[in-house]
Amino acid sequence: MKFFVDTADVAAIAELHELGMVDGVTTNPSLILKSGRNILEVTREICELVPGPVSAEVVALKAEDMIAEGRKLVEIASNIVVKVPLTWDGLRACKVLTDAGHMVNVTLCFSVNQALIAAKAGATFISPFVGRLDDINIDGMELIADIRQVYDNYDFQTQILAASIRSANHVAECARIGADVMTAPPAVIKALAGHVLTDKGLDQFTKDWAKTGQTILS
Ligand code: E4P
Repeated sequence: MKFFVDTADVAAIAELHELGMVDGVTTNPSLILKSGRNILEVTREICELVPGPVSAEVVALKAEDMIAEGRKLVEIASNIVVKVPLTWDGLRACKVLTDAGHMVNVTLCFSVNQALIAAKAGATFISPFVGRLDDINIDGMELIADIRQVYDNYDFQTQILAASIRSANHVAECARIGADVMTAPPAVIKALAGHVLTDKGLDQFTKDWAKTGQTILS
């Protein structure tokens, strides 16, 4: 499973990138707001750092305007993925942009039928939002499993990009189900390394080692 980082924080991306953890990046208008940066500038900086797909989201609501924004965004770098919302206009923009050879991420997906129609429109990535479904007491992971089954039934090439990932358990479940990609905030990716028994075991080893009175480097 590929790891995308869900942030516009360049320093946080760079830290994970050093460890080879970053296969791509996703941003959205809320993340751009949080960064306090200009969308074109920060996206360019991210693309210079990460060679994998970098999603930049359009903000227009009409297909023609989304297409114009998408054309502007793809000028930033060759690894830009235009992110469009899962609306009828978004699907129209998706078709035009993918036909022109650009990568498109269809976002804000909350149902299998939405994922199906995005694949029909030629989406490169579909972004089902796991956490936001969980927030309203609908099992977000069940949606990932259902989309996996439907895409496999018909051999759709659209990649499942599990989004709105909020916990390490979400990541493990996505990997078990077979999502192609998951995108998570840096803190969630870092949390993958944690386990209470690792901390407990290390604490014991450290205490026992001190009792030996030995050193390795001396
Ligand atoms: C995905 O592309 C979105 O940017 C993101 O995963 C949304 O996550 P949230 O629901 O935690 O805001």
